[in-house]
Amino acid sequence: MKTLVEFINDKQIEYPGATGDLTRLLNDITIAAKIVNREIRIAGLADINGRHGSTNIQGEDQQKMDVFANDHFINALKHGGQCAAIASEENEDLIIFGNAYSQQGKYVVAMDPVDGSSNIEVNVPIGTIFSIYKRVTPEGSSASVEDLLQKGRNIVAAGYVIYGSSTILVYTTGNGVNGFTYDPSVGLFFLSHPDMRIPEEGTIYSINEANYIYFPEGVKRYIKYCQVDDKATHRPYNTRYIGSLVSDVHRNLVRGGIFIYPGNAKNPTGKLRLLYECAPMAFIIEQAGGKASNGFHQILDIEPYGIHQRVPLFIGSKKMVEKAEEFMFEFSRDFSRLQGA
Ligand code: AHG
Ligand code: MN
Ligand code: MN
Repeated sequence: MKTLVEFINDKQIEYPGATGDLTRLLNDITIAAKIVNREIRIAGLADINGRHGSTNIQGEDQQKMDVFANDHFINALKHGGQCAAIASEENEDLIIFGNAYSQQGKYVVAMDPVDGSSNIEVNVPIGTIFSIYKRVTPEGSSASVEDLLQKGRNIVAAGYVIYGSSTILVYTTGNGVNGFTYDPSVGLFFLSHPDMRIPEEGTIYSINEANYIYFPEGVKRYIKYCQVDDKATHRPYNTRYIGSLVSDVHRNLVRGGIFIYPGNAKNPTGKLRLLYECAPMAFIIEQAGGKASNGFHQILDIEPYGIHQRVPLFIGSKKMVEKAEEFMFEFSRDFSRLQGA
C-alpha cells in the first residue's frame, strides 16, 4: 500500500522543475496533523476538552483544542522553512515568520486548525482545513497580507483532515483529489481513497434549518424543492447536518449531496470564512468534479479583502449546486445586492 509520504514524493517527480519545497511543506502539515490526531483521540482523558477561556477575533469561545492545534500547526510550519506566513482562524493578524530562513519560503498557508471545535465534547467528527498559496511578495523579504489575499483559483494545494471514526487526510495539488487513512499502529497515512470524484447528483442536503426564517428567499424555495415528493428525481432528499463543515462536506463528497451555509438578513455574508474554510473546500470539491459558489458566483473567483472575511457557501454535487443557484437567481436578486455579489 502506498503511504502519503511516498505519494507526495511521487507527485513531485511528475513536475520536472519542482524543488521539493511543497513536498516538505505538505509533510510538515501531515506531522502536525498526526500530533493533533493523537491529542484528539485522548482528549477526554487529557483534560483538553472544553473551553480555553478566551475568545478569538470572531468573538467565538476558543476551545482548548483550538489553541493546542493552532500552536502545533504554527510550530510545524515555522520550523519547516517553506512557509513565510500563516492566516489562522485563531489569530487576528497574519502570523509572519520573521527569521531569514522562513523569509526564503515561497509559500503562505491559510488554516482552520480545528473545524467544528464546539463539537469536541460530544465526540462528533471534527477536522482541520488548510490551503497553500505561492506568495506574491519577493522571496527573502518579509511576507505581507497581500500574499494571503489571493483568489482561491491561485491555490497551489488544499486539504482537510477529518478526525472521525478513522482519521482521513484528503488533499489536492490541482490534479485530482486523493484520500489517505491513518493507521495508528504504524503511524502512517495510507492511500485509501484514490482519485475521489463527487457524484454529479445526490440525495442529501445539509443546512442548519433552524435559521430558516432568516434565509434568503432563494434558499427557502430550494429547501422546499428538496422536500417535494418526486420519484423521478429521488425526492424528497435526506437531511444530514453534523455542524462541522469538514464532516458534512466529506460525507457529501463520498455520497453526493449539497451543503449550504447561506447569508441571512442579519449577516448577509453568513458564517463561514472565505480564506480558510470556503476557498480550500471549494478547491477540493471542484477538483473532485463538484461545484462551490456563494449562490451567484464561484467561490474560487471571489477576491478577498480581509483574512477573516465571510461568504455564503453552496458546495457539493455539481447539479445540486446549480439547482440551488437557479433558485437564488430567480428569487434572491435583492439579496444578491446585499451580499455585494
Ligand atoms: P469552527 O469550529 O472552525 O468555528 O467552525 C464551525 C463552523 C463549521 O464547521 C460548521 O459548518 C458551522 O460552523 C456550523 O454552524 P452552525 O452551528 O451555525 O450551524
Ligand atoms: Mn471552521
Ligand atoms: Mn476552527
